[in-house]
Formats: sequence, C-alpha cells, structure tokens
Amino acid sequence: MSTNVEQIKERLNIVDVISSYLKIEKAGINYKARCPFHNEKTPSFFISPQRQSFYCFGCGEKGDIFSFVEKFENVDFKEAMKILAERAGIELKGFRKEENKDEKEELLKVMEVATKFYEEALVENKNALQYLKNRGLLPDSISKWRIGFAKEGWRNLYDFLTEKGFSQKTMLEAGLLKKTEGKMGSEDERYYDTFRNRIMFPIFDNNGKVIAFSGRAMREDEKNPKYLNSPETKLFYKSETLYGFHIAKNYIRKNDYTVLVEGQMDLLMSHQVGTLNTVASSGTALTELHLKKLQKLSNRIIIAYDSDEAGESAARRAAELALSLGMEVKTTFLPKNEDPDSIIRKNPSEWKEILKNSEYFLDALLSKALQKYKDRALTKEITNNILPLVSLIKNEIEKSHFIKKIALKMRVTEDTILKQLEKIKTDTARVNSNEENQNQKDQKEELLFEIERYGLKIDVEQENAEILKRDEIKELKKKHQEIAITLDDKDITQEDRKNLENDLKNIEKRLKEINN
Ligand code: CTP
Ligand code: MN
Repeated sequence: MSTNVEQIKERLNIVDVISSYLKIEKAGINYKARCPFHNEKTPSFFISPQRQSFYCFGCGEKGDIFSFVEKFENVDFKEAMKILAERAGIELKGFRKEENKDEKEELLKVMEVATKFYEEALVENKNALQYLKNRGLLPDSISKWRIGFAKEGWRNLYDFLTEKGFSQKTMLEAGLLKKTEGKMGSEDERYYDTFRNRIMFPIFDNNGKVIAFSGRAMREDEKNPKYLNSPETKLFYKSETLYGFHIAKNYIRKNDYTVLVEGQMDLLMSHQVGTLNTVASSGTALTELHLKKLQKLSNRIIIAYDSDEAGESAARRAAELALSLGMEVKTTFLPKNEDPDSIIRKNPSEWKEILKNSEYFLDALLSKALQKYKDRALTKEITNNILPLVSLIKNEIEKSHFIKKIALKMRVTEDTILKQLEKIKTDTARVNSNEENQNQKDQKEELLFEIERYGLKIDVEQENAEILKRDEIKELKKKHQEIAITLDDKDITQEDRKNLENDLKNIEKRLKEINN
C-alpha cells in the first residue's frame, strides 16, 4: 500500500495543480510563469513535468506540489495534504474525518447566502449606495469586497433564510440571528436579525470564504455602536482573522512587507489605490497569531494606525508584539486625527508618500521623546517607555544600533544602557515565569483592550471562558490528529498501539465533555 503522499503524487500532475493558481506558458519541454513568490516582470519560475517539480531562477524557491501549495496558500504540510487529497479525490488514511465538518459547511453556506442577500439589497438602496460613493468607494471595490446592505427591519434576513430552508439553529450559530431573553411574544417573535440598517462588510477566511460580517451603522446613536461585528462562531476566530488577508497574502510575500491598518475603510481605500499588501485588524486587538500569520509571508511590517491617542497606544501594543517575534517594525506618520481612509480620499499620492517615509518604530519613538522631553524627564521617558521595547528586539545588530543611539542622545555610556536593559530582562522574566498563566492573562487583556478601545459591551468572564475552552479543544484536536497519524504506521508495537488507542479514547471523551 502506498502512502498518502505517494497516492496524491500519482494522481496529480504538477502542471495542472500550478496552472490552477497561475497563468503558465509552454517553454520547450517545461512550463514557465511569473513567480508568485517574488515580484518580477518576466517569468523565471519554471515547472518541470518530468521531475514534477518547480524552480524559480529569480528567488530560488523550489519544490513539489506540496511545497507549492504550502507556500501559495500559506498553510502547513498537513493542510496542503488535505487540499491536494481533496483535489485528487483521495480519502486520507490516518486522518479522521474532521469533527463538525458538515456543521461547518452548513455555516459557510448560510454565510454565503446571507452575503448575496446583502449584496442585492445594496443595489436597490440609493441611500446606502450614495453613502459609499461619498466615502470614495468605487463600484469595482464594492463588488470585489462584496459589500452589502442590511435593511431596516427586524426579520428581513431571518425570513429570507427560513424560506431558503436554513434552520434557526444554523442562523444563531452563524451569528446572523439573535434571540431575546424575555418571555414577551411568541417563540418566533423573539428572534431578530443581528444586523439592521447597516452597511455590511463581509469578513473572509484565508481562502476568501465569508465567515463573519462587520456592519457599519448608517445612523449613529447611543444604542447603536458605529461598527457591529459578528460574534465568535465555529467559523470566526477573531484572534486569527485579519480583514483583507485572503487578497493581501500574495502581495505581502511579493512586496516583502505588510501594511497594517485599523479599519475596514482604511483597508478598502488602501487596496483601491493599489496598496494590495494591506490588512486590517478591524476592531480586534492584534494578537500574536495574527502576526505569526503575517510573519510567514514577510518579516517586515508597517503599522499605519490612526493618529489619535487610542490609535497610538494600539500601535505601540502591536509593535511590542511584533518586535518580540523578531519582526522588523516600521510606523507611519499621519497628520493629527487623520486615518489612512481620510488621507487617501483627499489625496492618494500622499498615502504612498507616507508609506515611503515610514520609519523604524523605535526611531520614531525616540525622536518624539527628544522633541517632547529634556533632561530628567527625557531619561525617565527613555527608561520607562523606550528601553523596554529595545529589550524586545531579537536581531542583535539592530539592537546594538539602538543602544548606541540612545546612549548618545542621553549622554551616558553604552554600558549604562546595557545594565538597565539587563534589569528589564530579569523583571520581564519574572512576569513571564508562568507562561500559561501569562497566555490566559494576555487573552483577557485583549478583551479588555477591545472594550476600552471601542467601547464595546462584552461579558469578559464569559468570553474568556469561551477562549479557554477553544484553546483546549484546539490542543486536544492537535493531539488527536498526531496520534491518529502515528497509529497509521504499521511498525508500532502492539503495546504502544493499545496505549495510543486509549489516549485517543480519552481525548474523544474530553472533547465530548467540553462540547456539552
Ligand atoms: N471598530 C469596531 N467597533 C467599534 C468601532 C470600531 O469594531 N465600535 C473597528 C472597525 O473595524 C473600524 C475600526 O475599528 O473599522 C476603526 O475604528 P474607528 O477609527 O473608530 O472607525 P472610523 O475610521 O472612524 O470609521 P469610519 O471611517 O467608518 O467612520
Ligand atoms: Mn479610523
């Protein structure tokens, strides 16, 4: 019996696989294309049907169908195997059928139907169209990003989806429907649409499928937050989702940097003027997971957050995370109280200029501190707010560059700075000593951050419990899969097999417990 990998390779031809992603042309016995992994005008990416491999003479990327899909789709080996197995029509051995797969598919289906419903409603609504036009969005952008409109009214979507045969349960689990707690009215009357009288921005997964919505109020008032986002669902994990990623991913790799903005409108306008490597954190605190996803594509990031106070502190937080992952972090200088959206609407070329003039985050902090403070106040600012960031830098050359610079500005020796950094290091080590605790704390802080930043009403304890639950589920599933794969190996001993099967059972039991 051949392995999964062998079977897939037998069935799939690299030329077919790659040509479904890229435009390829014949070149002798080989094929060539413009390389998707770096920026180029003339093709230097070659595909050899004989060897079933690819090679780029421009950037040196090479490999087989698995490495191609891994790189192109930005997934790990297992995921690439799943994608290719599906394409080849092969049932993977050692992979249990993904739990809740049917349920997830039903959720994706309802999201797709809802997206179309909102898209069609937008076409019919002059007000909403005019609103988007006033904000500078072109028809092409509206259709590319599938922007829609949720009409006024309590059950427009509910009625429509019911007629299409979707259950209340599916709509609730997709976050499209809500139910009042009160006992007023009939059972049916207690359900209502989550989104009403809002411009609807679909949020996509890595492959461009709609998994959530962010709705912007057409009318702002006390009870109505400006932006309302879908709750976390089995499709939508906020800590992993970045708005625009499904399109930006290829351009981040090509340009070798990410432009990170805050809001949907910032992202849409940025893409509209051709900055296609832009993603938005859109209403959630940026997490390490978000950044790791970006880091796989490029180690460089430009943070272009709003230039208000809240934006600045969010940018600092993002920079801290990125630096501690070893990323190269730059920041833009936006005129006071502007955001990318407002700048681009006024003058697209100013946006390009601003990006070009972005500076290393620490340089920016340092020059700001030097402008604002003197003498002891300056020392204090540097010690409290800048050195902690320096201590996060992973690259030693970069780090020593900043140490030199700061020593010079503060008129102290480099040694003094190093001592101070040493102290910061031991302090953080103490804080981080219990990593798991720290992780939980971080997630709670993220929630609090969102509440503070956007004035959202979230039940922290409940959301926090949800997050912990999800982490455990994820961990268990990972173990489950690993064990299943090990079990697929014919060479393991009878005893090991027994133990592993026992482990599997326990994991399954625990998963059931959690899910109830
Ligand atoms: N946001 C959110 N919840 C809110 C407010 C904002 O999730 N109550 C998110 C949205 O993704 C929004 C982003 O944060 O796009 C930026 O917020 P903000 O700067 O306040 O929005 P504006 O840029 O002012 O929005 P607009 O331009 O639409 O007026
Ligand atoms: Mn904004």
